[in-house]
Amino acid sequence: MIAAAKRWLRWPLTRFGGARPRFAAADGRPDIGFLADDSRHFDLFAEWLHAEWSAPRGESLEQRRTALRNQMRVDRLPVALIAYWEGSPAGIVSLRQSDLHTRAHVGPWLSALYVDKPFRGRGIGRDLIGATLSLAAWLGHREVWLFTTDRRSFYEELGWERMPPLPAELRQTPLPDVFRHAVSAGGGPAAGSGAPRPPA
Ligand SMILES: CC(C)(COP(=O)(O)OP(=O)(O)OC[C@H]1O[C@@H](n2cnc3c(N)ncnc32)[C@H](O)[C@@H]1OP(=O)(O)O)[C@@H](O)C(=O)NCCC(=O)NCCS
Repeated sequence: MIAAAKRWLRWPLTRFGGARPRFAAADGRPDIGFLADDSRHFDLFAEWLHAEWSAPRGESLEQRRTALRNQMRVDRLPVALIAYWEGSPAGIVSLRQSDLHTRAHVGPWLSALYVDKPFRGRGIGRDLIGATLSLAAWLGHREVWLFTTDRRSFYEELGWERMPPLPAELRQTPLPDVFRHAVSAGGGPAAGSGAPRPPA
């Protein structure tokens, strides 16, 4: 009851009209919602993503902020989802139309999954992935793709199907491991959420 009240307060826009998918939340599980509905910790999320992926590529924090700002959407891609753990910002993930130039014809793609270090190992990454699949289903997609260069076992253990590499990918260093996950009507939107369809 208290958790439900906290959740109602945390995602203010979701309580009007309900034109959003709801992601299952329960005690001992992260609270997941749209960055578009809660930008209080926007700077922190941008800093995480910049440190993990942009800075090593020589990209600026401002570039990352611009990209993340573009993901403050709900019913069309790209979309960022965020996770809280007991009120603290804990993780983020994106669903975007494309992510790997060798596979421009498939999508959407789960991208930039990040769980802050103190919160790892609690199932937040797994729940963010589940929420992303629910979001993809809600948006009418049948499958979700991703690639990783160093987390192959993580996605294998979560039931993702590893796809054979394309010749162009075999020439890349490091080699991208490409995964696909089907999105079924039963896989999302979140069970029992009563989530409506987005506008056509
Ligand atoms: C990878 C990452 C998202 C995992 O987040 P997390 O919240 O710690 O993951 P979870 O707690 O949900 O773990 C889910 C399962 O995967 C396992 N797992 C977690 N990290 C793993 C890893 N690096 N390799 C293999 N398995 C892993 C967990 O043991 C758990 O298994 P279980 O369900 O049997 O207990 C997090 O470590 C992270 O943000 N890393 C830096 C960014 C990154 O690498 N992102 C992924 C890019 S492809």
